Amino acid sequence: MGDFLSGKVIAVTGAGRGIGRAVALACAAEGAKVVVADYGVSVDGSEPSSEVADQVVKEIEASGGEAVSVAEDVSTMAGGQRVVDAAVEGFGRIDGVVCVAGILRERMLFNMSEEEWDPVLATHLKGTFTLFRAASAVMRKQKSGTLIGFTSGNHQGSVSQSNYSAAKGGVISLTRSAALGLNKYGVTANCVAPVARTRMSAGVPMELAEIGEPEDVAPLVVYLLSDRAREVTGQVYTVAGPKIAVWAQPRELRAAYATDGGWTPESIADFLPGTVGTDEMPMLARLQEMARAAASGDRPNK
Ligand SMILES: NC(=O)c1ccc[n+]([C@@H]2O[C@H](COP(=O)([O-])OP(=O)(O)OC[C@H]3O[C@@H](n4cnc5c(N)ncnc54)[C@H](O)[C@@H]3O)[C@@H](O)[C@H]2O)c1
Repeated sequence: MGDFLSGKVIAVTGAGRGIGRAVALACAAEGAKVVVADYGVSVDGSEPSSEVADQVVKEIEASGGEAVSVAEDVSTMAGGQRVVDAAVEGFGRIDGVVCVAGILRERMLFNMSEEEWDPVLATHLKGTFTLFRAASAVMRKQKSGTLIGFTSGNHQGSVSQSNYSAAKGGVISLTRSAALGLNKYGVTANCVAPVARTRMSAGVPMELAEIGEPEDVAPLVVYLLSDRAREVTGQVYTVAGPKIAVWAQPRELRAAYATDGGWTPESIADFLPGTVGTDEMPMLARLQEMARAAASGDRPNK
């Protein structure tokens, strides 16, 4: 066992399987006491069970660590609160929350139903809010703590997961807001965008050039939870196998100002393309490349 997180209490949602499980086991192996929170649902969010969370607690205890399980739905305020309460009541404090819980309901935008939209937003975005809300109230008084949201490269957009992409973009904005609002209380907030082989990524309809295992994601999360990362906040990191990358902060790229009397649609049409212009959308460029390759019978090289 290491001691990177010794003395800390960490709650991990979605910790019953996949990436959340690997994070929970790594936190325990580095000396943290862990709240293993998982509603035990299928990929689409149905059929809850407490089995997977209990199983991970058993694994942690078998290796000499300390953990408790909470089989709650994090998309409810009460569920998020109960995860944080389990940390405070069981172990006396909460030093980190890692919001990994997630589901998928894939559908093209023009066919997507409310039943496919709402639970996906509720699990990812509200399920991060409920934990951040409950934990930050304690961390503010402690004057320390770390919030970690889980996003995806798909926050840039996706063809058939607009619900998931919208939720993951929301998680980034929520996390940056937490970083800004909690900075003066000594609390950090960062996002991780993983790419790892799990039941969720098994459904991705194309080959991913860069992918790793859930265990490859855990060290970055442990680092972000540790005192060594106390100055790191408001960041989004991708981790895919051996690769770690940081995302740019959103910022304006180019600007132009109207001179005499403001813009008209016509002056914008005349002026905008050659000046402010557009910014290439990498995912659209890739999609178009794939469509061209498919039409010519070639395979795209990644
Ligand atoms: N696997 C990847 O390559 C990949 C890529 C990008 C983002 N992500 C994100 O990483 C996270 C983990 O994904 P994974 O691949 O390990 O998925 P997974 O399906 O293996 O695990 C997700 C876990 O979340 C739990 N869960 C779902 N809804 C819940 C709820 N309402 N309350 C509590 N627990 C709930 C499930 O029971 C499950 O154990 C997700 O947020 C996912 O969107 C994964």
